[in-house]
Amino acid sequence: MSVIAKCPAKCASDAFCRIQVFGPTPLEGEISIQGSKNAVLPMMAAALLHKGVTVLTNVPVIQDVACMVDILEWLGCRCCHKGDCLVIDARQIKSTRVPKEYVAAMRCSIVVLGALLGRMGEASSGYPGGCLIGARPIDLHLEVLKSLGACVKEEDGWLEARAAEAGGLRGAEIHLSYPSVGATEQAILASVLAKEVTVIHGAAMEPEIDQLCRFLNNMGAVICGMGTEHLMVQGVDSLHDSSFQVEGDRIVAGTYGAAVAAARGHIVLKGVRPSQLRIPLTMLERAGARVRREEEGRTIEVTMGKAPWALDLKTGPYPAFPTDLQSPFMAFLAAGQGVSHIEEKVFEGRFATAGALRQMGARITIEGQRATIQGTRPLRGAQVAASDLRGGAALAVAALAAEGETVIGECRHIRRGYEDICRDLSALGARIKWMGEDS
Ligand code: UD1
Repeated sequence: MSVIAKCPAKCASDAFCRIQVFGPTPLEGEISIQGSKNAVLPMMAAALLHKGVTVLTNVPVIQDVACMVDILEWLGCRCCHKGDCLVIDARQIKSTRVPKEYVAAMRCSIVVLGALLGRMGEASSGYPGGCLIGARPIDLHLEVLKSLGACVKEEDGWLEARAAEAGGLRGAEIHLSYPSVGATEQAILASVLAKEVTVIHGAAMEPEIDQLCRFLNNMGAVICGMGTEHLMVQGVDSLHDSSFQVEGDRIVAGTYGAAVAAARGHIVLKGVRPSQLRIPLTMLERAGARVRREEEGRTIEVTMGKAPWALDLKTGPYPAFPTDLQSPFMAFLAAGQGVSHIEEKVFEGRFATAGALRQMGARITIEGQRATIQGTRPLRGAQVAASDLRGGAALAVAALAAEGETVIGECRHIRRGYEDICRDLSALGARIKWMGEDS
């Protein structure tokens, strides 16, 4: 069985695995930002907690969503994804085992364990995959499940978790030694139907955690403390049918902010909350952009009239600068003026894109977790390959500032998280297209 069997995106076809860009062209125009990948994936897993129907709207048409749909269907759910609406009918669960090939395709699938365990009292899965951006251990996920009373075994590449013998999961005080996004989601999903109260100390505060809690409360869960590092979950016996609109993807919006910093011009991004991008937008301003924010109207307007100035950036857990925007920002700084520094404090392997940027003439040196970027104008078009999701998008950003033709290979990585980066950037005036597509 293929893990992308029902992928509604074009990525399954080779013709859409390469992108061609002619630069430089300034950007101009307005686009709507797709729903958030990192918000919708744990919500889809959370739908397993309810013996009924959950409706999600503003769901992005991306590879990772298709992969999560495959996982849910394998477990017995019926899913219908039409346009931006996804209906998940989880009345029947036929299996508590998530096959290895599914979880290997996407790291976020590990949170399915907590949801299955909460509903069925047992769950097993292979080890998660995802972008190769560092060691990405799952020790915190397993600690969380153990704290809630699960017995967890790791055998022959399988993770087996059981709580049925102990009468199900039981609330506990959980202290996370690092505010891992995934481990916080795991703790939330596993504790919603657990007996008594769970308190999660040191929880991640990313906006996607807040959304997950609001989504679950809308289904009948009782969670408080959102937006802080202490979450409290009062276990409930059951949830009810619900519908929820996924918020716009702050990382996609930040990527397009980086794109206009690289290419110059004026763009309007609709459907995303500026407050979720406080530090990246401040950084764009420091680089010389003019930024207008409309929180109520969910609009961000970015104007860039010159080559970007140098920045010093350090990634970290929210509200610090997001690691997912590190590569797109590196790309525009490479085409800027002066010497920038980036410290990557979340994923140790996240400088892989520097190699491809160097092929485009960028001057970047890496020492451990620190990158030094000497702005170079102009970058030049080249044949490059995406090594991960955000790194792939970063190459498109750099290509917008480069002279001549750039061809980006291995774009299936980009399809994991961007609905159609060519559609969006060409709507803003960029000369970018999927290779094989008519111009
Ligand atoms: C999520 C996001 C990803 C983002 C990341 C950090 C999704 C689907 N993905 O990934 O886009 O880049 O948050 O904002 O939401 N760690 C451990 N042990 C664990 C778990 C994590 O040591 O059990 C470490 C990781 O190796 C990493 C750090 O904690 O160094 C952060 O990882 P985490 O916050 O868990 O990221 P993800 O949930 O994988």
